[in-house]
Amino acid sequence: MKYKVDLLTGIRPTGNLTAANYLGAVLPIIELQSQGISPLVFVSDIHAITDKEPDIVKEHIYGIVADYIALGIDPQKANIYLQSDIFGEVTTLTTLLARLVSVAELLRVPTLKDKLKKNAKPEMANSLLLLYPVLMASDILLNKAKKIPVGEDQLAHMEITRLIARRFNKKYGEIFPISQALHIKSLRILSLKGEGKMSKTNPSGAIFLTDDLKTVARKIKTAETAVEGEMNKKLESHILIAKGLAKTKSECDEIDSIIKEHKNGKPVMGQFKQTFTLIAQNFIEDFQIKRSEIIRNSSYVQSILEKGSQVAKRNATETLDDVKKALKFN
Ligand code: TRP
Repeated sequence: MKYKVDLLTGIRPTGNLTAANYLGAVLPIIELQSQGISPLVFVSDIHAITDKEPDIVKEHIYGIVADYIALGIDPQKANIYLQSDIFGEVTTLTTLLARLVSVAELLRVPTLKDKLKKNAKPEMANSLLLLYPVLMASDILLNKAKKIPVGEDQLAHMEITRLIARRFNKKYGEIFPISQALHIKSLRILSLKGEGKMSKTNPSGAIFLTDDLKTVARKIKTAETAVEGEMNKKLESHILIAKGLAKTKSECDEIDSIIKEHKNGKPVMGQFKQTFTLIAQNFIEDFQIKRSEIIRNSSYVQSILEKGSQVAKRNATETLDDVKKALKFN
């Protein structure tokens, strides 16, 4: 019942990242990494094909690995693997674990329920989507992982992993540790225009890490702020982004002092936007330079994925062996 991996995280290769993706999903892993924890990170391309065409998913794999490394995931400390490099192990364990959870239980998973709502095109919810949480349990349990950093939307999936592990252990012997969700509190990063969350589906209000510097300036220029002396959710979100992207303490201090003046009723929103723009542009420029260096060196990315796959393969083979023995199906 020993853990093999302290920290496991899966990322979906779904195109361009936004500032909100960086602050909400990547930065917390980098912070854990800087505390000395080595994460095992994988690109969940099998999950991604639940709602994307496989050839499109494939195109995004190197890009997302380059994104993560350019943002600060250190390949010396972290192992990074591609889920489909252990396709056989993942699907084998998925098959063996799927027996332990009922269709009714899977239908109660909120992410699937949302997709099955009448107004959300239920015909798009294919049957692989039903198995999504079991696939996720396979990733986690193959690696006997201890902590899984996830956002709010993945907590129900984590509960399925824990349920399956407990049921398996009870029926066939203690093979699996009970993994814990490390709940990453979701930052309230809103669209720059203020309507809803910052997301890919609303590009004019989102800062993409791939945006050119002029586009970033234009988006921030048209962002909604607050009237002098007042705070609101939009401005708070802008502050979170600006301070999250700032590379130095003095940039953060500058934001703080502008906001102090704003609260005192001074008309400083123009100045705020200027500072916000410079911070965002610096961050993005630096990111894009690093990323293009990595992308140019595709054999580097490949060697990172090969190293990671060896680790994942070893973990997976050992675990599957244990599982088949426990099931007396070897
Ligand atoms: N479902 C996760 C997401 O959409 C990605 C994922 C797949 C994952 N398998 C996982 C995350 C295992 C953590 C652990 O974000």
